[in-house]
Amino acid sequence: MSNKVQQSNTSNSASSSPDVYNIVLLVVDIVIMLAKFWLIVIESIVRAFLPKKLSNVSGQTILITGTGHGMGKEMALQYAKLGAKIICWDINEQTNAQTVKEIKQQGGTAYGYKCNVTNREEIIELAAKVRKEHGFVSIVINNAGIMPCHPLLEHTEQETRLMYEINVLSHFWINQAFLPEMIERNEGSIVALSSCAGLFGLANLVPYCGTKFAVRGYMLALAEELRHANPNSNIKFTTIYPYMIDTGLCKNPRYRFPNLFKLIGPQEAAASIIEAQREGLSEASIPRRFLNIEKVGRFVPRRAMAVVNDFLDTGVDTDKK
Ligand SMILES: NC(=O)c1ccc[n+]([C@@H]2O[C@H](COP(=O)([O-])OP(=O)(O)OC[C@H]3O[C@@H](n4cnc5c(N)ncnc54)[C@H](O)[C@@H]3O)[C@@H](O)[C@H]2O)c1
Ligand SMILES: *[C@@H]1O[C@H](CO)[C@@H](O)[C@H](O)[C@H]1NC(C)=O
Ligand SMILES: *[C@@H]1O[C@H](CO)[C@@H](O)[C@H](O)[C@H]1NC(C)=O
Repeated sequence: MSNKVQQSNTSNSASSSPDVYNIVLLVVDIVIMLAKFWLIVIESIVRAFLPKKLSNVSGQTILITGTGHGMGKEMALQYAKLGAKIICWDINEQTNAQTVKEIKQQGGTAYGYKCNVTNREEIIELAAKVRKEHGFVSIVINNAGIMPCHPLLEHTEQETRLMYEINVLSHFWINQAFLPEMIERNEGSIVALSSCAGLFGLANLVPYCGTKFAVRGYMLALAEELRHANPNSNIKFTTIYPYMIDTGLCKNPRYRFPNLFKLIGPQEAAASIIEAQREGLSEASIPRRFLNIEKVGRFVPRRAMAVVNDFLDTGVDTDKK
């Protein structure tokens, strides 16, 4: 017993000075953390008032999926105008060839490849081919997506699986093909098209919302993982949340106040995505204010937001009528 007392006594006296030391270390850590925290907060507030710094994409090789139509096509045309070389992937060979043709007509450089992004083998093979033929792909834009729109109980198994294959799983296979070289060079940019359906839960879009929330979580975690692996990582991750864009993807939009929620054209949407990518934003909605609405909305009870939703009466109706 006396032995035990002695033991605990010695360990006590031995640890008393390291305790002080550890407390000092902890206080220093807290001060550093708070200083960094507020510096970044203040810096981002100041930055909002400064002119935007956009990266130079001239001479860069950019891969975009879903370039046959809609925002993918418009991004391809606009990035080409900025002097980038565009690699166009789409399942639709004809519309994709048309995009490549239009880029060449405006004096740009583009190469079209037929790719069904549900097919992992096809992606891996094509990615190797693209890297061999065109070298380092510094910007990858995962844009291809589908949006079947009807009540959950009317969604078929095939349609649901296909939606997850295109909207979510393709990002895994494509990024796994192009990330290693980005990590090696410590440069590059990955962009993912989520949606406002990745910020809010919407009727008639249960599986689609699932895919777009998945993209958001995937991008968040991937950025975090790379930051952990290399605190000085220069690889940028940008997640885009468009509201309704006038591409034909969204068949039956419904709104009570059309002026407040008017459909945005694909050109304007593409310009907005390109700006977000060149600025290196981690996330951006189109229009930009929607992301703030979601942040504010999360402060209040969900039932309170439902009252606002009912008042605005905005959404998408089923495509089966
Ligand atoms: N239009 C909107 O209102 C809206 C809103 C929010 C998010 N989004 C998202 O933005 C992205 C682009 O939307 P959009 O409206 O421009 O689409 P779109 O329908 O106009 O064009 C999509 C393109 O992807 C291609 N594609 C489809 N399946 C493919 C496959 N398996 N493999 C390869 N290519 C395939 C199509 O052929 C088409 O050229 C999608 O991910 C969509 O979910 C769209
Ligand atoms: C952008 O990059 C290209 C290719 O590397 C270069 O020729 C051009 O001068 C750069 N432009 C600016 C404004 O830095
Ligand atoms: C794309 O691949 C999926 C499955 O891998 C298939 O169901 C679909 O029919 C294919 N689409 C086309 C147009 O070939």
